[in-house]
Amino acid sequence: MSRALLTLLTFITLTPAHADNQINIFTPDDKSRVTNQTVWLVMSTKTNAENIPVILQNKGSKKNKINGKKVIRKGGSFVVHTLLYLEEGLNKVIIGSKAISIFYTPRYRSPKSASAKNKALQNKYSPYLFHTEGKEVLCLKCHKIDRSQSDCLKCHKEVAASEYLHGPLGSGECLACHDPESVPSKFTARFGGEGELCFSCHQESKNKYSNNRFLHGPVGVNQCTVCHNPHSSSFKYQLVAAERDICYLCHDKKRIVGKRIVHKPVKRRGCVFCHDPHSSNHTSHLLQDEQTLCADPRCHPKFAKITINHPIKGHPVSGKQDPLQPERELSCRSCHNPHSADFPFLFSAERYLFCAKCHRH
Ligand code: HEC
Ligand code: HEC
Ligand code: HEC
Ligand code: HEC
Ligand code: HEC
Ligand code: HEC
Ligand code: HEC
Ligand code: HEC
Ligand code: HEC
Repeated sequence: MSRALLTLLTFITLTPAHADNQINIFTPDDKSRVTNQTVWLVMSTKTNAENIPVILQNKGSKKNKINGKKVIRKGGSFVVHTLLYLEEGLNKVIIGSKAISIFYTPRYRSPKSASAKNKALQNKYSPYLFHTEGKEVLCLKCHKIDRSQSDCLKCHKEVAASEYLHGPLGSGECLACHDPESVPSKFTARFGGEGELCFSCHQESKNKYSNNRFLHGPVGVNQCTVCHNPHSSSFKYQLVAAERDICYLCHDKKRIVGKRIVHKPVKRRGCVFCHDPHSSNHTSHLLQDEQTLCADPRCHPKFAKITINHPIKGHPVSGKQDPLQPERELSCRSCHNPHSADFPFLFSAERYLFCAKCHRH
């Protein structure tokens, strides 16, 4: 018998009935997929739980030994609670010699931004649902899980933890949006969490959007929560990112503001200074038609009604076909990029070449 094998056999026989066999993981399940960044690891053990290392392995932490545990002793066993902070993608949790994998895909994120590798991987993990009979029963010895918001918040502090709190959370109405009768898991968001849920209280928004000619992409497909957190966030209107960054969740930042000179309002006021994030009667979801927008009293009032005589006497600014975009009329943006450009006056070419873009001689 080889020495290595001998050592292995000895090791196996000498190892006591291993503590790990007595670890019983209540939540979450192995190979599950979640959309919230934090999940609770709850397990029961027969031995002193403080001695069992919990290690979180993921892209960011590599090996992150977790110390913060809430251990409740009841009868002969221990119930251990640990909050796991997940990284986007695969997270492995090692508990003694057990291991479980959890896949995290942020809910409030454009699908475009997930890497192709993560997209392929995520299908191997099934969406995790906790509020099933089989799972809840493991907690009911010590916890109430019924219809009162104060109970919800004992386990879900994080949903109300940020500065800007959405109206119904202030008045204790988790169940206005979460259906306690849903199956197989209780508390799923009504209407799938989509627009109709929001419109059930924000009727005036619905009227406004549907009266306008153009709906912005995500609003058109009823996705409010790509931009708004339904609970709370660190940004006004419970936006999922600062207003100045939110459009870049989906639109290419480099293309819009990547040029040398950035138009001041884009830098200082942000995108919603000119665009409506929901719906509009004007092309490109502008708040007003283009020329009225440029001629705003705070901006370039002298352009309010001109149709001719800019940039030189006799030159039209509207009413003629734009030679560069023949399907459109000449207008301010024919010559000035509204966001950023490489040349002064927000031109797309050096001044002496600029006129030649449309005029051959
Ligand atoms: C043996 C009793 C017991 C069992 C079983 C139990 N818990 Fe707990 N849990 C407690 C106690 C006690 C607290 C502390 C309550 C407090 O701080 O007010 C607690 C606190 C928590 C907290 C809040 C921790 C914090 O620090 O904010 C969460 C979340 C939680 N439990 C989830 C669960 C879940 C989910 C289950 C079932 C899978 C479960 N618990 C099973 C006793 C238990
Ligand atoms: C005993 C602790 C506990 C209580 C009380 C509790 N939850 Fe949960 N809930 C969990 C755990 C654990 C998860 C799994 C995700 C995680 O770990 O954060 C979860 C997940 C959820 C989910 C995601 C869907 C699912 O089924 O996994 C929703 C929605 C939810 N809870 C709503 C509520 C609402 C609403 C209440 C109050 C009526 C409530 N919860 C009370 C522990 C609790
Ligand atoms: C305005 C509606 C609304 C209210 C009020 C609300 N939620 Fe939610 N909640 C949602 C939506 C929408 C989702 C996303 C679910 C989906 O899209 O399937 C969600 C998801 C969740 C989740 C899953 C984790 C996550 O962040 O994705 C938990 C847990 C949760 N809610 C708990 C609560 C608790 C606790 C309360 C009360 C304090 C509450 N919610 C109040 C709309 C609401
Ligand atoms: C149960 C009713 C209810 C539901 C459902 C609801 N809201 Fe609200 N919402 C309110 C209340 C109440 C306020 C605070 C009063 C106000 O400012 O209009 C509010 C405020 C807001 C605000 C801030 C408005 C402001 O002017 O500051 C936004 C943004 C918002 N909700 C978005 C949403 C989105 C997105 C959804 C769907 C996920 C949603 N709401 C679903 C009741 C609701
Ligand atoms: C593309 C991102 C985006 C989407 C999608 C989106 N919103 Fe908004 N929403 C915003 C921004 C940005 C603001 C702040 C507007 C401002 O400052 O003028 C806002 C403000 C609001 C407000 C408060 C101000 C107002 O206009 O009344 C409500 C209510 C609101 N949104 C509801 C919704 C609802 C309902 C949906 C889904 C149908 C939705 N939003 C989808 C970005 C978005
Ligand atoms: C969740 C993804 C998402 C977010 C966030 C988002 N958009 Fe959009 N946007 C789209 C989609 C999808 C379209 C429609 C497809 C297209 O025309 O490119 C669109 C179209 C547009 C258009 C019209 C494009 C055209 O060629 O006519 C404008 C303008 C626009 N968005 C501005 C904004 C502004 C401003 C913000 C921030 C307040 C924003 N978007 C945030 C997804 C998004
Ligand atoms: C000073 C007003 C103004 C501001 C601020 C502004 N835009 Fe625009 N935007 C316009 C105008 C005008 C158009 C129409 C251009 C056209 O039709 O060619 C436009 C068109 C667009 C388009 C569609 C055409 C394209 O280039 O894809 C997108 C997307 C867009 N803007 C996104 C944004 C984003 C994101 C921001 C914030 C970083 C922003 N805009 C800030 C005025 C503005
Ligand atoms: C045919 C091309 C063209 C069109 C169309 C055009 N501009 Fe200009 N614009 C120019 C040129 C060239 C200059 C530089 C003039 C100079 O040297 O003073 C300029 C300069 C400007 C300036 C800076 C100097 C000043 O007079 O304040 C502003 C602001 C401006 N344009 C706004 C607009 C607005 C608003 C519109 C739409 C109503 C518009 N432009 C349409 C070519 C154009
Ligand atoms: C975006 C395209 C475009 C650019 C850039 C442009 N123009 Fe024009 N220009 C036009 C159009 C369109 C007309 C009208 C042609 C017509 O009437 O058929 C015009 C007409 C003219 C006319 C004739 C006006 C008249 O009296 O009939 C002159 C002169 C002129 N442009 C000079 C310039 C100069 C100088 C520049 C550079 C500062 C310039 N243009 C830049 C599109 C442009």
